[in-house]
Order: sequence, then C-alpha cells, then structure tokens
Amino acid sequence: MSAPATQRSTAEISVNSTVHEFDGPPHTNALDFLRGVGLTAAKEGCAEGECGACAIMVARPDADETTRWTSINSCLLPAAALDGQEVITAEGLAEGESIHPVQEEMAVRGGSQCGYCTPGFIASMAAEYYRPERVADAAAVADAEDAVAGTEDEGHHCGPNGFDIHSLSGNLCRCTGYRPIRDAAYGLGQPEPGDRIAERRENPAPASASTDFHRADTATGETGRFRRPSTLAEALDILADEPEVLVVAGSTDWGVEVNIKGVRAKSILAIDRLPELRGIRRSPEHIELGAGLTLSELERELAGSIPLLGKLIPQFASRLIRNGATIGGNLGTGSPIGDTPPALLALEAQLVLTSAQGSRVVDLADYFLGYRQTVREAGELITAIRIPLPLSPLTSFQKIAKRRFDDISSVAIGYAMRVEDGIVAKARIGLGGVAATPLRAKATETLLEGSPWTLETIHGAAGTLAAEGTPMDDHRASAKYRTAMLRSSLERFFAEQEATR
Ligand SMILES: Cc1cc2nc3c(=O)[nH]c(=O)nc-3n(C[C@H](O)[C@H](O)[C@H](O)COP(=O)(O)OP(=O)(O)OC[C@H]3O[C@@H](n4cnc5c(N)ncnc54)[C@H](O)[C@@H]3O)c2cc1C
Ligand code: FES
Ligand code: FES
Repeated sequence: MSAPATQRSTAEISVNSTVHEFDGPPHTNALDFLRGVGLTAAKEGCAEGECGACAIMVARPDADETTRWTSINSCLLPAAALDGQEVITAEGLAEGESIHPVQEEMAVRGGSQCGYCTPGFIASMAAEYYRPERVADAAAVADAEDAVAGTEDEGHHCGPNGFDIHSLSGNLCRCTGYRPIRDAAYGLGQPEPGDRIAERRENPAPASASTDFHRADTATGETGRFRRPSTLAEALDILADEPEVLVVAGSTDWGVEVNIKGVRAKSILAIDRLPELRGIRRSPEHIELGAGLTLSELERELAGSIPLLGKLIPQFASRLIRNGATIGGNLGTGSPIGDTPPALLALEAQLVLTSAQGSRVVDLADYFLGYRQTVREAGELITAIRIPLPLSPLTSFQKIAKRRFDDISSVAIGYAMRVEDGIVAKARIGLGGVAATPLRAKATETLLEGSPWTLETIHGAAGTLAAEGTPMDDHRASAKYRTAMLRSSLERFFAEQEATR
C-alpha cells in the first residue's frame, strides 16, 4: 500500500510537453489555469459543459498499458485533478512551423470563421484523429454499401475515413453552419509514421498522482484542500474522519456548481482514478461495473455486452462530457433526471455502497428516498454497480429531450423484457423525469407479465404506464407532455421490437 501523499501547495501539470506549476485555490478549473499560464487557445464560452470551446486533450489509460488521447471540457475539471497528468491544447499540436493535419483541414475547408470555437473543435477533432479504432472503422465503412454516406448506428456516424462525427457533439459553432467542419473531419487521413502524438499512445498514461494539495484563496483567505488518495482504503478513512468532505469524480456536475452557482468546498476528495473503482468484473451471477468508470470507458469496455447500456450511452450528453462523467457520479447526484437510473432499474441493478466499516449491497429500486435523497450514508461511496444475469433480451432506452444529442432528458424510459411462447414472461420498466425520484413502473410490469405479447396488451397497459409517475411542469416539459410521452412509450417499444424480429 502506498503512503498518503505529502501536503503540497503546488500541483505539477505537463502541458504541451512543458511542466507547469499550479498554485491557485483548489476550486480553480483547468481552463483558468491554462489561460493563466498564457495558453489562451481554449476559451470560456458557457462554463457549464455545453459549448466545447474549452476542450483539451488529456492522456488517459487505455487497454494493454497504452494511452488514449481523451477530449474533455477543461471548464469543469479542477486544475488540481490534473496533478501529474499530461495535457495537449490546440497550441501543442503543431510541429515547429508545420500546422497539424487537423488544423490544416479546418483551415483549407473554411471550418473556422470568427474562430472562437475553433481551438475546442481542434482538440475534439484531434482526439478523434488519434482514436485507435478509427482505422478499423474506416475499413468497415469501405466495406459497407453506403461508403460515401458513412455508416451509422446508435449515436455513431463514421465518415469514409472512420471519423465518428459524434465525437464533435459537445462542440458548438455559431458561424460556420457545420458543413465545412464536417468536411474537414472527413477529409483527414490517418496519422503518419513518426507522428509524436500517435507514438505517445504506445506507452502507458501517467499514473494517477497521489495528491494532497493545500492552498489559501487570496480573495477570501480561506484554505482549500484537494486530495486524491491512491487506494480505496485511504479514501474511506478520509471520509470516515471528515464525513463533510466533498467527493468528486469526473466533476461534470460539480464543475457546473462551482462555475455557475459559485459553490465552494473547503475540502475535496477525488475518487475517479481509484483502481478499485475502475474495473469490470464478470461472474456467472452478475456483471459488476466500477463506479469510477466514465461513460465512454463503459461503452468501449462493455462493447455491447449489456445491450440496454449500449443503447443509452450514446444518448448521454456529448462525447466531451461522457469522457469525464462517471456512472457512480450519475447515481451519486441522486437526480430524478439522470439517464442511467431508468436503464439500471430495468436491469434490476444493485449498488455496492462501501464505507470504512465494510460494504453493503442495495437494490437500486430501494436507493432513492426523495428528491436528491438516497439511502447512501455519510462515509459511504458507491463503489460498484451490479447487473444481475441473465439479461432480458428485449430492451430499449427512450430518451425524450428537446435535442437528440447533448441534452438532459425530459422523460427517460428503460425497458428490459422477456417473451416466451408469445407471453410476457418478465417485464422491467425504469422511469426518469416523471417523479421526484427515478422509479420502477411496477403496476405496468405486473399487468404485462403473463399477458400475450400483442398490440392489444400494449394498448391496455398504456394508460397504466401513463399513471405511474407524478410529473410536474418545469422549463423542460409540462406534466401533460410527460404523461403523454409515458402513454405512447409502450407502443413505441412494441413497434421497435417487432421491427427487429
Ligand atoms: C453539459 C452537460 C450535459 C449533461 N448531460 C447529461 C445527460 O444527458 N444525462 C445525464 O444523466 N446527465 C447529464 N449530465 C450530468 C452529469 O454529466 C452526470 O450526472 C455525470 O454522470 C456525473 O458524473 P461525474 O463523475 O462527473 O460526477 P461529479 O460531478 O464528480 O459528482 C456528482 C455528484 O456525485 C457524487 N459522487 C460522484 N461519484 C460518487 C461515488 N462513487 N459515490 C458517491 N457519490 C459520488 C459527488 O459527490 C457529487 O455530489 C450533464 C452534465 C453537463 C454539464
Ligand atoms: S466553456 Fe463551454 S463547455 Fe467549457
Ligand atoms: S467559427 Fe465562430 S463560433 Fe465557430
């Protein structure tokens, strides 16, 4: 076991191959740190993860001890979270006088007008340029009949060069109309031999530094602390001693609180790199997902082995957010409109809650108590999410939002069903956005089970499903609309399943 980190007042962050010291207050985000050291390519557009003007690339661990260049929103991440890490900004892509192929394509295709969004697009585009699977995706497109249009599946659209255009879903541009940006993306080749950023992928990413960063805020005089322990046991001891410490994982929710609501925490505990929270364990009884895995990591590592999650993840926020957001964080917020709870409820997931005293396993259906209230006690972390096996074969994730991508759900519905000999043998339905907590549609499940799998059954159950929630009016949708979405949802599910039989 490694020793706890020594307290320091500076963090060290490698940016574009130069190590910079960070010594600001712990709530400082990575964007402000970068701009403070003169690297002003990344911009602040919204400060809440919506526009991508602040995108940068971070070296993250990939399979077989390699590195994956990962795009993230620097406005949401505390700078201290990058202690010991490697970052590339748009400034760091060029080689001497030669601009990077991504920059070249954006310039010659007219992908930049006012230029405010451009360095963020460049960072997201460069991360996709270096995505190892892009070579195979290009070959798959070439094999497909629609090679010109590209290949499309749930939330991915790869161009002829394998470039997934949804990798840019978190980047907004007010000027170009996007066509030239797409042309630039699809105009890219593969990295040339000797490309230093491509070659960097072959070595491991920096290990997660054990950090104990302590710094006074000169504006308020208050001292803040950011700790990243290297083991779960250490994290749990800190939580036991200081139950009020603020737990942070990907910081995609917390970063918005800091930037937009001005919330400050005296003491922060970063848990997202804890090795104990970052694995997927399979047994005959269940698949256990580490709570510190990001949505992008889960998508890659599960590779469709939990089809309902495979349908959900591409609809969750944007690639930039999914690269930071963890599954544990989505449950840690206790939000009634998080996207994972409806799907996980349909999968009958259980949460492993761990404190210094040990672990307990709680059904997700019993986890939510009220609006943003859960059974998780101070001192407990969500360490894993267990999905029982076998999985029901008929699944769907319906997300109703104002935009197809990069939007929070107004209503979300997860389905997992099994039909045997034309009869519904098992029905599990998870709902989000229609009550103070996510919930199971138990009355509808009971009605469906034992009934024939027919449109008549579905029509008969639609009214029951519509009455399962207690929806309210808010800026996303009216209660009436939410009820109408529930009413039509079962029919949509039935139609989807029949279309694929
Ligand atoms: C632009 C934007 C778009 C978004 N779109 C979506 C969307 O489409 N769907 C959706 O569901 N959400 C969305 N979100 C919300 C957010 O990305 C998710 O809730 C995400 O999963 C949070 O994970 P995180 O690791 O970033 O959590 P953090 O911000 O680090 O933490 C969130 C909360 O959870 C707690 N926490 C974190 N990990 C644990 C743990 N292991 N155990 C106990 N508590 C923990 C923290 O203490 C904190 O209170 C969006 C956010 C933004 C900014
Ligand atoms: S500034 Fe808009 S996403 Fe970061
Ligand atoms: S070029 Fe102006 S916002 Fe994109």
